[in-house]
Amino acid sequence: MRIGVLTAGGDCPGLNAVIRSVVHRALTGHDDEVIGFEDGFVGLLEGRFRPLDLNSVSGILARGGTILGSARLERARLREAADNADEMCAEYGIDVLIPIGGEGTLTAARMLSDAGMPVVGVPKTIDNDINGTDRTFGFDTAVTVATEAIDRLKTTAESHQRVMVVEVMGRHAGWIALEAGMAGGAHGICIPERPFEPSQLVAMVEERFARGKKFAVICVAEGAHPAKGSMDYGVGEIDKYGHERFAGIGATLAMELEERLGKEARPVILGHVQRGGVPTAYDRVLANRFGWHAVEAAHKGAFGHMTSLQGTTIGLVPLADAVTQLKTVPEERMEEAESVF
Ligand code: F6P
Repeated sequence: MRIGVLTAGGDCPGLNAVIRSVVHRALTGHDDEVIGFEDGFVGLLEGRFRPLDLNSVSGILARGGTILGSARLERARLREAADNADEMCAEYGIDVLIPIGGEGTLTAARMLSDAGMPVVGVPKTIDNDINGTDRTFGFDTAVTVATEAIDRLKTTAESHQRVMVVEVMGRHAGWIALEAGMAGGAHGICIPERPFEPSQLVAMVEERFARGKKFAVICVAEGAHPAKGSMDYGVGEIDKYGHERFAGIGATLAMELEERLGKEARPVILGHVQRGGVPTAYDRVLANRFGWHAVEAAHKGAFGHMTSLQGTTIGLVPLADAVTQLKTVPEERMEEAESVF
């Protein structure tokens, strides 16, 4: 079997571990050939690929980013890829494509699959918002980075009797804010799923100061927004890939709190630091397992599916189930977190 593999969308720690695992399983378990397309679907469309052998994936298990490069693709070009699905398979001689990516990539994978291309997807994203899998690799690393940041911010916040507002990634789902906020012991967590009331954050900080705890850390997801009419907050533009650019909730909220409280507040935007660097052991293991199972799925002809973590088992779910809606934070998870603010 000749397998094509690509990484698309925003990068994420663990991508290289999947590529390595696919190559090892395919070459040593099945006598397959593997080629890697460069820069995601762009490389697929432009015919930019290279053969991957054991040496080309040696030493990449713990490396962040992706040796293949990644890119986002405009919808129109995706359509072009879907319209040429058969021709591309014939031209590159691939029997299956394994795209590794988040919601956008898996939606593209589904389009290609619907157009007749044999596809087995592998879900990735630091946001952990893909439906149909309990976890995506990259999430554990992002939460670990954000938790360490909160730990560090607490000591400087306490020294200066400040409020720190730490903004983490999470456009539509607040998983990183929720779990890093819980693990770091943040005093407030704001997520996109539940509009927040700035007055409640003010009350929380005042209550802490009144009992002698003269600092606070609030963990806010980039996609969180205040309840209607509770605070001025602009709407961001939509970029060419259809993603909203946010208006900077971390900085806006820090300013608002400083004004309302009459105490110093500072925003800290973690941004892409959460996505860079080495994956945690958990993410490496999950990535390895996804790669192995993607190759097995290809050999079973389970096209149109993606690998998925279900409890501790790796299974397969139809791509259609994975991309119809995002996996967001349920209200009860916020209730658990709030009990320790
Ligand atoms: O989807 C993953 C993600 O890291 C989001 O959390 C974040 O909003 C987005 O990608 C950032 O994208 P870019 O790298 O294009 O700025």
